[in-house]
Amino acid sequence: MIFLDKINETATFLKERGVVAPEFGLILGSGLGELAEEIENAVVVDYAEIPNWGRSTVVGHAGKLVYGDLAGRKVLALQGRFHFYEGNPLEVVTFPVRVMKVLGCEGVIVTNAAGGIGFGPGTLMAISDHINMTGQNPLIGENLDDFGPRFPDMSKAYTPEYRAVAHRVAEKIGVQLDEGVYLGATGPTYETPAEIRAFKTLGADAVGMSTVPEVIVAAHSGLKVLGISCISNYAAGFQEELNHEEVVEVTQRVKGDFKRLLTSILAEL
Ligand code: HPA
Repeated sequence: MIFLDKINETATFLKERGVVAPEFGLILGSGLGELAEEIENAVVVDYAEIPNWGRSTVVGHAGKLVYGDLAGRKVLALQGRFHFYEGNPLEVVTFPVRVMKVLGCEGVIVTNAAGGIGFGPGTLMAISDHINMTGQNPLIGENLDDFGPRFPDMSKAYTPEYRAVAHRVAEKIGVQLDEGVYLGATGPTYETPAEIRAFKTLGADAVGMSTVPEVIVAAHSGLKVLGISCISNYAAGFQEELNHEEVVEVTQRVKGDFKRLLTSILAEL
């Protein structure tokens, strides 16, 4: 199968570059990429060099893969992800997750900036579950049986044990960590106030334009998942107006806590 060949080709390329045996994949969202700068013995690969890899076009995303040691673990971190709203097919959006699986990762930590429905700017939220409002699914098409089943169970897509570790660690280091449901939309428009009222009724606590496709592909292949949202703004209707500058600004404000939390969690996973 051609797609499988591409995944293997990319994994082989990265291995040759020294990305040998990552234990955890880290997908760092808008404004959260700085964590990768704390990785020691780093192998840095520009996205443009990686075969079959997408391109990152969003402000606040560096477009680099960083592999090395963080909190005593071998991590493969992505500074910047691919979004559906950039025109990427979901195959491209989720490609890095498949490569992480092939390289032998046990789990992925998926982070994002999100609008809060109830939660305010600066809140860190462990994702307990998601609502897929994209109208898409990255697993549509021929099933990759080598990765997982045709009809994957999503009951525990966000691994409960990882979340328990996250809460325990947050308490220990004195970082406030809330928990809630992430609703994924395609963007690139922010939501209307009416949509946010509807999403609130549906049970969403945060809304964003990423994460859902990656977590579906991770769950399919049996990768464990920890999802952390950094709430960067009140969702539409709860504040005057929304813009990307504010999203990046707020993530910059909480990045200290964010980095401390993630590093401490990694040490305990
Ligand atoms: N909506 C969607 N995506 C987002 C938001 C939002 O309010 N904030 C950051 N990403």
